[in-house]
Amino acid sequence: MADNKVYRASTTAPVNIAVVKYWGKRDTKLNLPTNSSISVTLSQADLRTLTTASCSASYSDGDSLTLNGEPSEVSGARTQACFRELRARRTGLEAANSSLPKLSAMPLRIVSENNFPTAAGLASSAAGFAALVQAIANLYELPDSPSELSLIARQGSGSACRSLFGGYVAWRMGDKEDGSDSIADLVAPASHWPNMRALILVASSAKKGVSSTSGMQQTVATSGLFQRRITEIVPANMNTMEDAIKAKDFAKFAEVTMRDSNSFHACCADTYPPIFYMNDTSRAAIRAVESINAKAGKTIAAYTFDAGPNCVIYYLEENKPTVLGAFTQVLNGVSGWKEGSAGVTSSVRLEDGIASALRDGVGRVIMTGVGEGPQKTEEYLVGEDGKAVKF
Ligand code: DP6
Repeated sequence: MADNKVYRASTTAPVNIAVVKYWGKRDTKLNLPTNSSISVTLSQADLRTLTTASCSASYSDGDSLTLNGEPSEVSGARTQACFRELRARRTGLEAANSSLPKLSAMPLRIVSENNFPTAAGLASSAAGFAALVQAIANLYELPDSPSELSLIARQGSGSACRSLFGGYVAWRMGDKEDGSDSIADLVAPASHWPNMRALILVASSAKKGVSSTSGMQQTVATSGLFQRRITEIVPANMNTMEDAIKAKDFAKFAEVTMRDSNSFHACCADTYPPIFYMNDTSRAAIRAVESINAKAGKTIAAYTFDAGPNCVIYYLEENKPTVLGAFTQVLNGVSGWKEGSAGVTSSVRLEDGIASALRDGVGRVIMTGVGEGPQKTEEYLVGEDGKAVKF
C-alpha cells in the first residue's frame, strides 16, 4: 500500500532589525554580502511568521507555497535553493538509515501566515524565509544547528539568516567563494539584555519603490562612498557594536546604530541615480529622537531605517516614560499603543514642526522589544488531511 500519510511540522520565526546594516552582495546567486551585519531579533508576540511545512506522496500538484492565504510562486531561484539544500540534507539522513520514510522524494505543501499586516511595509522576507527553512528542517528532523540552517536561509533572503536566532545576532560575511563561512551566530541571547525595547513608527503602507535586492546592486555598482563603508566604516561599527552589546552600553549601542543607518542611507543617496528610502516623516522622527536625547542630556533613544521610511526606535525599558511619552503626546490618535502607554508623560515636548510632520505621516505604531528565535509549535496551518486550515 502506498504511504499517503501527511507529514507535517510547524514553527514560528521572528523579524529582525539590523543595527549594522547588510547592504551589498559580492555574489548575487549565493547571496554573499560585501560586509558583516548585526541585528536585534524582535519579539514574536508582536511580529512573527507562522509556517507549517508538510509533505505527502498524495500531493499531486508538486511543491506549493501559500502566503497569507494567497498562492505564491515556488519556482523562484531563492525558494528553489532552500528546497534543494533541505532535501539534500534529508536525503543524506535517509541514505544512512533505510527505516526513515522517504520524505525527500515527496512534494512539499507549505502554508505561512504573518501576525502583522503585510501591507505595513515591514520587512517580512526575513521572518518568512527563516520560518520556511526552520519548518522544513523540523519536518525532515534535520540535526542541523541554527548556524547551519542560517546558511540555507541566507540563500532565500540575506537578512533571513539572522532570524534563526533570538537576541543579538551577527551575520559574518565570510570570505570563501562557496559561502560556507557566511553564517549567522549569536552575539548575546535576549536574556543578556532583556530590557531592550523597540518602537516602530509605520510611516508608509505602500510597497517600497526600490527593492533591497535591486537597490543594493545599484549601490555596489555606482557609489564611491560605499567602498569606504565596506572597507572601514562597517568593520569598525561591527567591533564597537559587539562590545557595546556585551557591555550593555546603551549610549554606544545607540550611537553606532544611528551612525550606521545614516551611513547606509548616505550610500543610497550616493548611488547614481540616487535612491531615497527616507521621507519627511522619517526625517521628523530623527529630529524627535535628537530632541529626546538632548533633553535627557544623554543618549537614551536610537533611530534606524531599513529600505523604506518606517522608523525603528530602540530604547531601554527604564527610559520608557521619556521616550514613549514624547511620541504618545503627538501620536495619541494612531493605533498600536499598548495599554498604559497613553498615560505615560515625558519631560520632552516635541516642537510643533516635528509634531505635525509625525502626525501627518505616521499611520500606526508597533510597540515591541527584543525576543526569542524560532519556536516549534503544535499549531498547524495544514490539517492531517493535507488541506490548508482556514481561520
Ligand atoms: C536594509 O535581506 O531584504 O534591511 O538578500 O536581497 O533578500 P536580499 O535583501 P534583504 O536586505 C535587507 C537590507 C536591510 C538591512 C539589513 O536587514 O541588514
